[in-house]
Amino acid sequence: MTSDVASPRVRGFGTSVFSEMSRLANQYGAVNLGQGFPDFPGPSFVKEAAKAAVDADLNQYAVSHGAPRLRAAIARTWNEQYGMDVDPDSEITVTSGATEAIFDAVQALAGAGDEIVVFEPFYDSYLPSAIMANATLRTVTLRPPDWSFDPDEAAAAFGPRTRVLLLNTPHNPTGKVFTRDELAMLAELCQQWDVVAVADEVYERIVFDDAVHLPLATLPGMWERTLTINSTGKTFSMTGWKVGNAIGPARLTAPLRAVHQFVTFASATPFQEAMATALEQAAALDYYTDLNRDYHRRRDALKVVLDGANLPTLPVEGAYFLMSDISHLGFESDIEFCRWLTSEIGVAAIPPSAFYLDPARAPLLARFCFAKRAETIQHAADRLAMVPERARSGA
Ligand SMILES: Cc1ncc(COP(=O)(O)O)c(C=O)c1O
Repeated sequence: MTSDVASPRVRGFGTSVFSEMSRLANQYGAVNLGQGFPDFPGPSFVKEAAKAAVDADLNQYAVSHGAPRLRAAIARTWNEQYGMDVDPDSEITVTSGATEAIFDAVQALAGAGDEIVVFEPFYDSYLPSAIMANATLRTVTLRPPDWSFDPDEAAAAFGPRTRVLLLNTPHNPTGKVFTRDELAMLAELCQQWDVVAVADEVYERIVFDDAVHLPLATLPGMWERTLTINSTGKTFSMTGWKVGNAIGPARLTAPLRAVHQFVTFASATPFQEAMATALEQAAALDYYTDLNRDYHRRRDALKVVLDGANLPTLPVEGAYFLMSDISHLGFESDIEFCRWLTSEIGVAAIPPSAFYLDPARAPLLARFCFAKRAETIQHAADRLAMVPERARSGA
């Protein structure tokens, strides 16, 4: 950002690589497998519920921390999924997407001189959220192909200045689902250093094969020190509605709400009502089973296409992205590759270096989103078939 009126804190934010790739995708009419959003419709029963809420004149401000029906539905869902009793009045807050919940949590829990431990690569809103709080990120590296990490490096990242562990599982962009052993180790570190965890679990319903998503808050000793963040946008394929939530004990929920009331105050009422209906009815309609089956199909379809186009994919356990190895194609950086792929091949992807504090540390990979219709994946396949030939000829 070059504006001379911007405060020093926001001066470095600039335009994200997501916007650049979407702009390039539009310019070249590329199939957009870059930005992470479904291009298929969300469930009809949820859309009908939103229309009904608007028609019922549920159009004024919601209660700041969330419509009571939605908070009750979230509490019931947690009880059914994880056997946890959560108090909807003091332990659940509805936010404008997970992005707002992450921002609120970081402002509420970290300040000047404090450190936040994150696994790198990390979701792009974590760094600006930390900067806005005058806090610093301490990174622990996830290493391909299985995205494991060195326990000693993790232990060394914690110290007297650490206030927050900001953990994302299932993980964007790698598709890693943290195992019970890894989570237990992190839980121990949090307890040893009296650190609060902010667990970004927006892809909790999108896991593959034998992977099991385990909320950090369900580990022994962790409920009291964890805020779990979720997004109905991911679970119900309505990312544009921006209905997220944060769940945690009252001692963590209260400061989060203190921030939330002055950031957005409340999220859109009819969409909260519709998401209450979504959560109330989803299990009985087999919605989660269908969602999981469909995502397996989408993942498998795109995997075949990428592997066949000389863009070999890494294993993926959760979320809706595939990472392809591009190190053999002769490009200097993942950004250079993604620009080439968008403009010359007509398919947009995201360079994962955008998820690193120092882009030079990123392995040479490209991230492709498979939350797409079969036609979109086929359309991309037709174009990606040209990759081996063009990459060889240096076109
Ligand atoms: C890991 C992660 N956290 C948070 C978000 C933001 O979720 P929301 O759209 O609900 O703000 C995303 C969206 O892509 C994400 O991938």
